[in-house]
Amino acid sequence: MAGKEKIHQLIKVALGEAEADLAITNGSIVNVYSGEVLAGDVLIKGDRIASVGKDTGNAIGPKTRVIDAKGKTLIPGLIDGHTHIDTIYSTSELVRYAIKGGTTTIITETANIGCALGYEAVVEFLESTQDQPIKIFVTAPPMVTISPVTEEHALSVSQLRRLLRRREVIGLGEPYWGEVVNSNQRVLDLIAETIRQGKKVDGHSAGASGKKLQAYVAVGVSSCHEPITAEEVMERLRLGLFVLIREGEIRRELEAVSGLKDEGVDLSRLAISTDGLGPRHLINDGYMDFVVQKAIDLGFPPLQAIGMATINVARRFALDDVIGGIAPGKYADIVIIPDLKTIRAEYVISSGRLVAKAGEPLVLPREHDYSPSILKSVKLDRDFKAEDFAVPAAGRQVKVRLIDQVTNLVSREDFASMAVSDGQLKTDAGRDILKVAAIERSFGTGKSFVGFIKGMGFKRGAIATSAVWDCGDIIAVGADENDMAQAVNRIRELDGGIVVCAGGRVLAELALPVGGEISTEPMGSLEDKLGRIQRAAADLGCRLPDVRITLAVLTTAAIPFLRICEHGLVDLRQNKFVDLIVG
Ligand SMILES: [Fe+2]
Repeated sequence: MAGKEKIHQLIKVALGEAEADLAITNGSIVNVYSGEVLAGDVLIKGDRIASVGKDTGNAIGPKTRVIDAKGKTLIPGLIDGHTHIDTIYSTSELVRYAIKGGTTTIITETANIGCALGYEAVVEFLESTQDQPIKIFVTAPPMVTISPVTEEHALSVSQLRRLLRRREVIGLGEPYWGEVVNSNQRVLDLIAETIRQGKKVDGHSAGASGKKLQAYVAVGVSSCHEPITAEEVMERLRLGLFVLIREGEIRRELEAVSGLKDEGVDLSRLAISTDGLGPRHLINDGYMDFVVQKAIDLGFPPLQAIGMATINVARRFALDDVIGGIAPGKYADIVIIPDLKTIRAEYVISSGRLVAKAGEPLVLPREHDYSPSILKSVKLDRDFKAEDFAVPAAGRQVKVRLIDQVTNLVSREDFASMAVSDGQLKTDAGRDILKVAAIERSFGTGKSFVGFIKGMGFKRGAIATSAVWDCGDIIAVGADENDMAQAVNRIRELDGGIVVCAGGRVLAELALPVGGEISTEPMGSLEDKLGRIQRAAADLGCRLPDVRITLAVLTTAAIPFLRICEHGLVDLRQNKFVDLIVG
């Protein structure tokens, strides 16, 4: 239907003079604008809502599909306001899980694919997210990175301008606060350009407070999804930031901040989001339906909880003219649930289409055909050998700076005295001192660096991954250099992946052929393979609860504080490279 004709038809259906395509009748309709629940019918024409209320005139006719929602509640389609879907599972696979639970809009970062492969890959990823049964909006990646190679390929202002011209690009993704406050000019220019184009700058102010937080906000950053306490949430709300409470794979904060509901403060600029959800959570718990249910179970009033995953998010991105509520003119994104306190999708309507019923998707997501440049992203021109993981050293004993992995995510600096043997430093599994290598694999530079890490627990074998944050490196950790080489070589054969090796054998693996970041497996078998990787690592002695994530964050500037890339070790406190051998 052409645009003008569509509007005329919408008017006629709203006036009760033409038949609606779909009518949802007799339901209790959550009105997110007034905070009421009102009985009535919803009339839908094409992808839009034509009217909401009791007087439907002649709009329900023989051609109208009718869903009787007597005794049921209608809520707007749920929105994940901040996530990262450019990693691990394919967009199409996520869409299957989103629609069956009532998530009809996803707003995603693109930093994983962007930092791994650069601007062209962002454009292609963006295309993979479009023409799906749900809406996916993206933020452009600022590509804040510790890797000099990635920095050379980082987003420029002119590339950003091209991205922002697209309707589905609604702003700039999270530029980490340290780089902004330290006046990284490229990042400041990206922020300024985004604001100039009338779009939003998402924030990432983990751990910032006081003057540093004020400085971050002063440049025009307008949201944050990183606060982990009610106090941090309030500090950000008071500074005018929009706050997204995180309930996802990396962290779960809802419970810790749930006391806010009793403080009598304005929570209209508060939302809930996942910041990324692993396959296990999607399979076992659900998506935003789970998150909203959890907020209700923690005592948030249902209308508040629903608002935090619908209208509040839509307003934050200036999308509330088209999504976020059940009202005329909005996209017909509606979830029918049993009652206000039970976020279980019985029917899901997305852009006027019934896309899921009783927890089963009724439509197929679009599968994207990726270009060879995305599917051939591991640019290593040779196989690796044990010698490639050698760390030369002079003398008999040296003091070495180590990454000390103190939690699944956080590392700190430690030092160890190590014996030099045949002019080299070897792994020392007895003291839990393993080798960690960062190998640039995206841009064909051949650069790599080998250091040491403790806290991982491997007694033997090795693990490697091409899916790391904020750069295009492979990270390999191991107690044995031959196994490290085999794991990297297998990733090369797979064109990206996660591989566990020991004793010359591959024990577990997952291919990530899309940019070295994303699997093409169905969610169930993906979860199965990730489980095998975790178990194989644990059998080799690994103590970490999610080794994939630990390896992935070793390269990020977002989490404190001793990190690694192809050029060496980076101390994030000083924002500079530091020596491996210190004495
Ligand atoms: Fe994030």
